[in-house]
Amino acid sequence: MKFFIDTANVELIRSYYELGIIDGVTTNPSLVSKEDGSFDDIIKEISSFVDGPISAEVIATDTIGMISQAEELAAINRNIVVKIPMTKEGIKAVNALSKKSIKTNVTLVFSPAQALLAAKVGAAYVSPFIGRLDDIGHHGMELIEQIRAIYDNYQFATEIIVASIRHPSHVIEAALNGADVATVPPEVIEKLFNHPLTDIGLAKFLEDWKLRFG
Ligand code: G3P
Repeated sequence: MKFFIDTANVELIRSYYELGIIDGVTTNPSLVSKEDGSFDDIIKEISSFVDGPISAEVIATDTIGMISQAEELAAINRNIVVKIPMTKEGIKAVNALSKKSIKTNVTLVFSPAQALLAAKVGAAYVSPFIGRLDDIGHHGMELIEQIRAIYDNYQFATEIIVASIRHPSHVIEAALNGADVATVPPEVIEKLFNHPLTDIGLAKFLEDWKLRFG
Protein backbone atom coordinates (compact mmCIF):
# COMPACT_ATOMS: atom_id res chain seq x y z
CA MET A 1 0.00 0.00 0.00
CA LYS A 2 1.25 3.47 -0.89
CA PHE A 3 1.48 6.24 1.72
CA PHE A 4 0.57 9.79 0.79
CA ILE A 5 0.95 12.60 3.31
CA ASP A 6 -2.21 14.66 3.86
CA THR A 7 -0.98 18.21 4.47
CA ALA A 8 0.02 21.36 2.59
CA ASN A 9 2.81 22.16 5.06
CA VAL A 10 5.98 22.07 2.95
CA GLU A 11 8.38 21.57 5.86
CA LEU A 12 6.39 18.64 7.28
CA ILE A 13 6.17 17.08 3.82
CA ARG A 14 9.93 17.49 3.41
CA SER A 15 10.76 15.93 6.79
CA TYR A 16 8.62 12.81 6.26
CA TYR A 17 9.56 12.53 2.57
CA GLU A 18 13.23 12.34 3.58
CA LEU A 19 12.45 9.20 5.59
CA GLY A 20 11.61 7.39 2.36
CA ILE A 21 8.11 6.32 3.41
CA ILE A 22 6.04 8.86 1.44
CA ASP A 23 4.88 8.09 -2.11
CA GLY A 24 2.82 11.24 -2.73
CA VAL A 25 0.95 14.20 -1.26
CA THR A 26 -2.68 15.21 -0.94
CA THR A 27 -3.87 18.74 -0.18
CA ASN A 28 -7.30 20.30 0.02
CA PRO A 29 -8.52 23.93 0.25
CA SER A 30 -8.79 23.76 4.06
CA LEU A 31 -5.22 22.43 4.42
CA VAL A 32 -3.82 25.03 1.98
CA SER A 33 -5.63 27.86 3.78
CA LYS A 34 -3.69 27.05 6.99
CA GLU A 35 -0.34 27.78 5.28
CA ASP A 36 1.47 30.99 4.28
CA GLY A 37 2.05 31.77 0.61
CA SER A 38 -0.05 31.44 -2.52
CA PHE A 39 -1.64 28.15 -3.58
CA ASP A 40 0.48 28.04 -6.76
CA ASP A 41 3.72 28.67 -4.85
CA ILE A 42 2.92 25.94 -2.30
CA ILE A 43 2.15 23.41 -5.03
CA LYS A 44 5.27 24.43 -7.01
CA GLU A 45 7.47 24.04 -3.94
CA ILE A 46 6.06 20.59 -3.11
CA SER A 47 6.58 19.59 -6.77
CA SER A 48 10.21 20.67 -6.60
CA PHE A 49 11.19 17.73 -4.35
CA VAL A 50 8.34 15.18 -4.29
CA ASP A 51 8.61 12.62 -7.07
CA GLY A 52 5.11 11.20 -6.88
CA PRO A 53 1.45 12.18 -7.26
CA ILE A 54 0.54 15.55 -5.69
CA SER A 55 -3.17 16.28 -5.39
CA ALA A 56 -4.25 19.91 -5.77
CA GLU A 57 -7.95 20.79 -5.66
CA VAL A 58 -10.02 23.07 -7.88
CA ILE A 59 -12.20 25.76 -6.29
CA ALA A 60 -14.63 26.17 -9.21
CA THR A 61 -17.90 24.26 -8.91
CA ASP A 62 -19.01 24.42 -12.56
CA THR A 63 -17.65 22.03 -15.19
CA ILE A 64 -16.07 24.68 -17.42
CA GLY A 65 -14.40 26.41 -14.47
CA MET A 66 -13.13 23.09 -13.05
CA ILE A 67 -11.64 22.10 -16.42
CA SER A 68 -9.89 25.43 -16.83
CA GLN A 69 -8.46 25.35 -13.27
CA ALA A 70 -7.45 21.71 -13.77
CA GLU A 71 -5.51 22.60 -16.91
CA GLU A 72 -3.68 25.38 -15.07
CA LEU A 73 -2.80 23.09 -12.15
CA ALA A 74 -1.72 20.23 -14.42
CA ALA A 75 0.64 22.61 -16.24
CA ILE A 76 2.60 23.22 -13.02
CA ASN A 77 4.20 19.76 -12.98
CA ARG A 78 3.70 16.31 -14.52
CA ASN A 79 3.02 14.87 -11.03
CA ILE A 80 -0.04 17.04 -10.35
CA VAL A 81 -3.30 15.16 -9.85
CA VAL A 82 -6.33 17.44 -9.94
CA LYS A 83 -8.78 16.96 -7.11
CA ILE A 84 -12.37 17.37 -8.25
CA PRO A 85 -15.37 17.29 -5.90
CA MET A 86 -17.89 14.46 -6.29
CA THR A 87 -20.75 16.38 -7.91
CA LYS A 88 -22.57 16.00 -11.23
CA GLU A 89 -20.56 18.95 -12.59
CA GLY A 90 -17.41 17.36 -11.21
CA ILE A 91 -18.06 14.01 -12.88
CA LYS A 92 -18.57 15.79 -16.21
CA ALA A 93 -15.24 17.57 -15.71
CA VAL A 94 -13.45 14.31 -14.81
CA ASN A 95 -14.81 12.72 -17.98
CA ALA A 96 -13.42 15.58 -20.11
CA LEU A 97 -10.09 15.67 -18.23
CA SER A 98 -9.58 11.89 -18.59
CA LYS A 99 -9.85 12.32 -22.36
CA LYS A 100 -7.12 14.99 -22.20
CA SER A 101 -4.95 12.60 -20.10
CA ILE A 102 -5.13 14.89 -17.04
CA LYS A 103 -5.14 12.76 -13.89
CA THR A 104 -7.95 13.36 -11.40
CA ASN A 105 -8.72 12.46 -7.81
CA VAL A 106 -12.46 12.53 -7.07
CA THR A 107 -12.85 13.82 -3.54
CA LEU A 108 -15.58 14.01 -0.89
CA VAL A 109 -16.71 10.47 -1.66
CA PHE A 110 -19.03 8.98 0.94
CA SER A 111 -20.82 6.14 -0.88
CA PRO A 112 -20.00 3.17 -3.16
CA ALA A 113 -22.30 4.63 -5.84
CA GLN A 114 -20.21 7.82 -5.95
CA ALA A 115 -17.01 5.75 -6.23
CA LEU A 116 -18.54 3.75 -9.09
CA LEU A 117 -19.41 6.94 -11.00
CA ALA A 118 -15.89 8.30 -10.53
CA ALA A 119 -14.35 5.08 -11.88
CA LYS A 120 -16.71 5.02 -14.87
CA VAL A 121 -15.46 8.41 -16.09
CA GLY A 122 -11.81 7.42 -15.69
CA ALA A 123 -10.73 9.05 -12.42
CA ALA A 124 -7.16 8.04 -11.59
CA TYR A 125 -8.00 8.12 -7.86
CA VAL A 126 -11.05 8.21 -5.63
CA SER A 127 -10.94 9.60 -2.08
CA PRO A 128 -13.48 8.13 0.36
CA PHE A 129 -13.45 10.12 3.64
CA ILE A 130 -13.71 7.44 6.27
CA GLY A 131 -13.08 9.53 9.41
CA ARG A 132 -15.95 11.87 8.57
CA LEU A 133 -18.25 8.82 8.19
CA ASP A 134 -17.09 7.51 11.58
CA ASP A 135 -17.81 10.98 13.01
CA ILE A 136 -21.50 10.64 12.13
CA GLY A 137 -21.80 7.12 13.55
CA HIS A 138 -21.13 5.05 10.42
CA HIS A 139 -18.37 2.47 10.03
CA GLY A 140 -16.28 4.32 7.44
CA MET A 141 -14.03 1.35 6.65
CA GLU A 142 -17.01 -0.65 5.29
CA LEU A 143 -17.04 1.82 2.42
CA ILE A 144 -13.47 0.82 1.53
CA GLU A 145 -14.43 -2.88 1.51
CA GLN A 146 -17.37 -2.14 -0.79
CA ILE A 147 -15.41 0.02 -3.22
CA ARG A 148 -12.60 -2.57 -3.35
CA ALA A 149 -15.12 -5.31 -4.21
CA ILE A 150 -16.81 -3.22 -6.91
CA TYR A 151 -13.55 -2.13 -8.54
CA ASP A 152 -12.24 -5.71 -8.49
CA ASN A 153 -15.49 -7.07 -10.02
CA TYR A 154 -15.04 -4.86 -13.06
CA GLN A 155 -11.25 -4.38 -13.12
CA PHE A 156 -11.52 -0.60 -12.73
CA ALA A 157 -8.02 0.90 -12.65
CA THR A 158 -9.08 3.78 -10.37
CA GLU A 159 -6.96 3.69 -7.20
CA ILE A 160 -8.63 3.93 -3.80
CA ILE A 161 -7.11 6.56 -1.50
CA VAL A 162 -8.34 6.12 2.06
CA ALA A 163 -8.73 9.71 3.27
CA SER A 164 -9.81 11.45 6.46
CA ILE A 165 -7.62 9.11 8.49
CA ARG A 166 -7.74 9.81 12.22
CA HIS A 167 -5.53 7.16 13.88
CA PRO A 168 -3.08 4.28 13.15
CA SER A 169 -5.84 1.63 13.17
CA HIS A 170 -7.38 3.34 10.14
CA VAL A 171 -4.07 2.85 8.30
CA ILE A 172 -3.89 -0.85 9.21
CA GLU A 173 -7.53 -1.47 8.30
CA ALA A 174 -6.98 0.32 5.00
CA ALA A 175 -4.12 -2.07 4.23
CA LEU A 176 -6.15 -5.13 5.33
CA ASN A 177 -9.00 -4.06 3.07
CA GLY A 178 -6.76 -3.75 0.01
CA ALA A 179 -6.77 0.03 -0.38
CA ASP A 180 -4.20 1.23 -2.91
CA VAL A 181 -3.22 4.29 -0.89
CA ALA A 182 -3.66 5.71 2.61
CA THR A 183 -3.29 9.47 2.83
CA VAL A 184 -2.14 10.10 6.35
CA PRO A 185 -1.89 13.37 8.32
CA PRO A 186 1.58 14.03 9.83
CA GLU A 187 0.37 13.51 13.43
CA VAL A 188 -0.88 10.02 12.55
CA ILE A 189 2.31 9.16 10.60
CA GLU A 190 4.23 10.05 13.75
CA LYS A 191 2.15 7.58 15.80
CA LEU A 192 2.86 4.76 13.32
CA PHE A 193 6.47 4.66 14.51
CA ASN A 194 5.73 4.25 18.17
CA HIS A 195 5.35 1.20 20.40
CA PRO A 196 6.12 1.30 24.15
CA LEU A 197 7.79 -2.13 23.99
CA THR A 198 10.24 -0.78 21.39
CA ASP A 199 11.26 2.03 23.78
CA ILE A 200 11.49 -0.31 26.78
CA GLY A 201 13.43 -2.91 24.75
CA LEU A 202 15.95 -0.39 23.41
CA ALA A 203 16.53 1.13 26.86
CA LYS A 204 17.22 -2.39 28.24
CA PHE A 205 19.65 -3.29 25.42
CA LEU A 206 21.63 -0.08 26.00
CA GLU A 207 21.59 -0.54 29.78
CA ASP A 208 22.88 -4.15 29.53
CA TRP A 209 25.60 -3.04 27.09
CA LYS A 210 26.68 -0.23 29.42
CA LEU A 211 26.84 -2.60 32.42
CA ARG A 212 29.10 -5.03 30.58
CA PHE A 213 31.23 -2.73 28.38
CA GLY A 214 30.95 0.61 30.14
O1 G3P B 1 -7.60 15.38 2.29
C1 G3P B 1 -8.89 15.05 2.62
C2 G3P B 1 -9.13 14.42 3.95
O2 G3P B 1 -8.10 13.60 4.32
C3 G3P B 1 -9.70 15.32 5.01
O3 G3P B 1 -9.62 14.79 6.29
O4 G3P B 1 -9.64 15.04 8.75
O5 G3P B 1 -10.55 16.90 7.31
O6 G3P B 1 -11.78 14.75 7.53
P1 G3P B 1 -10.45 15.42 7.52
